[in-house]
Amino acid sequence: MNWFNRDIITIENFSREELEHLFNIADKYMNIKFKDSLKGKIIANLFLEPSTRTRVSFEVAAKRLGAEVVNVTGEYASIKKGESLYDTLKMLDSYCDLIIIRSPIEGSAQFAADICEHPVINAGDGTLNHPTQAMIDLYTIKNTFNRLDKLNIGVYGDLKYGRAVVSFILAISKYDNKIYAISPEQLKIRNEIKDELLNKGVKIEEFTNLEHVISELDVLYVTRLQKERFVDLAEYERVRGSYKLDLKSLEKSKPNMIVMHPLPRVEELTYELDSTSKQAYFRQAKFGIPLRMAILSLIFGVEV
Ligand code: NCD
Repeated sequence: MNWFNRDIITIENFSREELEHLFNIADKYMNIKFKDSLKGKIIANLFLEPSTRTRVSFEVAAKRLGAEVVNVTGEYASIKKGESLYDTLKMLDSYCDLIIIRSPIEGSAQFAADICEHPVINAGDGTLNHPTQAMIDLYTIKNTFNRLDKLNIGVYGDLKYGRAVVSFILAISKYDNKIYAISPEQLKIRNEIKDELLNKGVKIEEFTNLEHVISELDVLYVTRLQKERFVDLAEYERVRGSYKLDLKSLEKSKPNMIVMHPLPRVEELTYELDSTSKQAYFRQAKFGIPLRMAILSLIFGVEV
């Protein structure tokens, strides 16, 4: 088990045992409001893309452990004046004890880890990785079903550009599940990811119609159309509104099936689902706090 001082760049680097250990620690933080185990630590939140949950929950998790947080956002960072990411990171590394980075550029978290002495956490890099979201997603499933395997997992929506859903697929495929990848034709999972999964022997099948598979699913993970990642906005307009989850689409679903979503939602998930027993996305977001408290304490090597 090697969490101490570790960079978190991709979910693929974490074993089931390491994740299990994380979830056990997160369980302990479920009911802990405040500890001062990270007193004296200063954490940098470098967010070069919009964020509500990830940025705020990392900040709240850090503060609940007694750490201080400095927020550097794209709008106000000197990157806006033309400073390089390299120089920005070098500065933060010299001021702070840990760097959390979100960036639109794939590979930037790994780049940060390569040049920084302090640990780096990837809070989302382009269309590639969002490892801590994937950890929260697994934790939500474990918390609901008391297991992470023998489940039929549907992923629904923009599987091409959504880093949260791609990271989730990579995470859940560490366990023995069947994955139903449901999306409009233009938003299918990228070939390199699909090939990687098939090479590993993951059971994954692609569908374009949710109705055909809804009755088989235990989990349906919905994700928004990633407007900002489209190279061609005309293409975005063509697929806009091509999928949506509402009460009617869940009519044939299993009674215990849950709907997950990394949020933010835009048009793909109707508000009428919020008050149903299938809604799991708000607790999924809430688990961001104990899970990120667990991540920070493991990286800094402090006791619960
Ligand atoms: C996701 C992201 O930024 O990748 N949000 C999140 O962190 N919970 C999902 C999204 O933006 O669609």
